[in-house]
Amino acid sequence: MGFNVAIDGPAGAGKSTIAKLVAKEMNFIYVDTGAMYRAIALYLLRKGVKPDERDRFADECRGADVTIRYEDGIQQVILNGENVSGMIRTEEVGNMASASSVDGAVRAKLLDLQRNLAKENDVVMDGRDIGTNILPNADVKFYLTASAEERANRRFKELTEKGQECDLEKIKADIIERDERDMNREIAPLKQAEDAVLIDSSDMGIDDVLKVMVETINKKRN
Ligand code: DC
Repeated sequence: MGFNVAIDGPAGAGKSTIAKLVAKEMNFIYVDTGAMYRAIALYLLRKGVKPDERDRFADECRGADVTIRYEDGIQQVILNGENVSGMIRTEEVGNMASASSVDGAVRAKLLDLQRNLAKENDVVMDGRDIGTNILPNADVKFYLTASAEERANRRFKELTEKGQECDLEKIKADIIERDERDMNREIAPLKQAEDAVLIDSSDMGIDDVLKVMVETINKKRN
């Protein structure tokens, strides 16, 4: 069994940025489970499935085989043999991932992959149900959140810096809609595990969050 760190929290809380830094600092691998859901979402979109066609998810996702590999320490997501890592970061794929991950068949596809990675490696794994469902015995659990306002501001800044046109109010509305869906679905909803350390990063910088996490992990390891 590897040493397992679980980081859960809502969209845009900074999980992946922080998880990558924690993994680097601890010399663990970073496992981005959202990317796996995004790969299945891409598969469904390519099949012409729409986010509101809930009754098609289970059947249509059958042919999707998702695996990961690491290139220079960076996780690559492989969908039926194709490296789709560069295609899954759009709002369209993100929204479809949030919609399709409510489905039990979609979630079942990724369960063993995620648990086996944690069994065989020291990992920092981020997602929505890692501490509650995938790795209930994780050595350290964090629930990383920030206000919807702050998460929308960060996303707006990120997109604007990339030169993409966007609307702050629309971004905020999307974030609230995604929180609602991720937190209220029947299977493995997003919630703070009882034994998770809560970090609200609304008024914290990345370095402050990193420091708290690394200290917490080191305390547990020593
Ligand atoms: O973290 P992200 O934005 O890449 O995740 C995309 C969607 O995938 C998210 O809205 C819900 C789903 N997801 C999930 O249900 N369980 C996880 N462990 C990770 C992501």
